[in-house]
Amino acid sequence: MSAVLKPPVMQLAAMAHEDIERVIVIENDIYEFPWTAGNFSDSIKAGYHCWLVAAGQDLIGYAVVMLGAGEAHLLNLSVARAMQRRGIGRQLLHDVMAAALAQGAQNMLLEVRPSNHAGRALYAQAGFTQLGLRRAYYPARGGREDALILGCTF
Ligand SMILES: CC(C)(COP(=O)(O)OP(=O)(O)OC[C@H]1O[C@@H](n2cnc3c(N)ncnc32)[C@H](O)[C@@H]1OP(=O)(O)O)[C@@H](O)C(=O)NCCC(=O)NCCS
Repeated sequence: MSAVLKPPVMQLAAMAHEDIERVIVIENDIYEFPWTAGNFSDSIKAGYHCWLVAAGQDLIGYAVVMLGAGEAHLLNLSVARAMQRRGIGRQLLHDVMAAALAQGAQNMLLEVRPSNHAGRALYAQAGFTQLGLRRAYYPARGGREDALILGCTF
């Protein structure tokens, strides 16, 4: 399915190394198997597009996108627990897709856990469909969990 993308609405700011401490507080709160500070630091160093969303002084969400060869790979998309279910994730996803399109990407790929019903519903609403499966991709309690590979053409 193709997405129809309008210009970004929320103010996205670039994540800097000094933001990571605040990002990690949210990350550790919302994921059972969170990224480490090193994962975010490496992403910034690698030149990935690392975005923050704030409401006033408060950090409320962030996203990490790797861009290359006309393809965007969404590596992390997160909304602070207290701010979830208010449309921020949908808007953040839309805006990182629009930013990737503006940078020359023609499509976006991502992985999501089959057990992540919120994430799957969000991506399905945005026009992502399943392209494949990575077996035992994620750590999970008592073993590993597969990843669904989802994709969307802009
Ligand atoms: C997934 C996540 C980013 C959604 O952000 P959000 O701001 O809460 O989502 P929104 O309020 O914008 O909701 C958009 C749509 O997502 C889906 N959704 C969001 N939360 C949901 C939930 N708890 N259960 C079911 N569907 C949900 C719904 O389809 C929703 O549309 P609707 O409100 O019309 O029903 C957020 O729950 C989160 O950060 N989760 C932890 C991190 C994570 O799993 N990230 C994705 C990893 S691939």
